[in-house]
Amino acid sequence: MSIDITKVESILAASGRGKGVLIPILQAVQNEFGYVPREAVDCVAETLDVFPVDIYGILTFYSQFYLEPRGRYTIRVCQGTACHVMGSKEVLDHFSRQLGIEDGGTTEDGVFSLERVACLGCCGMAPVVAVGEEFYGAVDMTKADELIATWRAKAEESE
Ligand code: FES
Repeated sequence: MSIDITKVESILAASGRGKGVLIPILQAVQNEFGYVPREAVDCVAETLDVFPVDIYGILTFYSQFYLEPRGRYTIRVCQGTACHVMGSKEVLDHFSRQLGIEDGGTTEDGVFSLERVACLGCCGMAPVVAVGEEFYGAVDMTKADELIATWRAKAEESE
């Protein structure tokens, strides 16, 4: 799938030049597309006169960047200590099985991405799962199944 490269060109036109501009530009690209497409990397590299390999070095160093399209909703399963003690690893494995994807993966229908994360900052609700911007506490396998059903239905409604 090719991207609208004029959006990358607009980002580059609005950005300054010189040291320190690369990361903000890549962030803006990701905000636009939800990930950093290969064509965008080539365009940025050519415009800023840097090697694509150096851009990929940055993209793989910072975990905030994605090189593949993301699902519409990201399910983040906390693996911090409090959640771990309350069984969050089993919850993560359950999501992984039910969705058929590993940590970091995206479902084929593009609805969900799955991520393990460190403490989400609400340990009293352990084990905690976030879907998009919503937080859920005391998540067990049943609740995990409910979350998948609820958010999948939301995705279908908004199609
Ligand atoms: S350890 Fe999971 S929210 Fe803090």
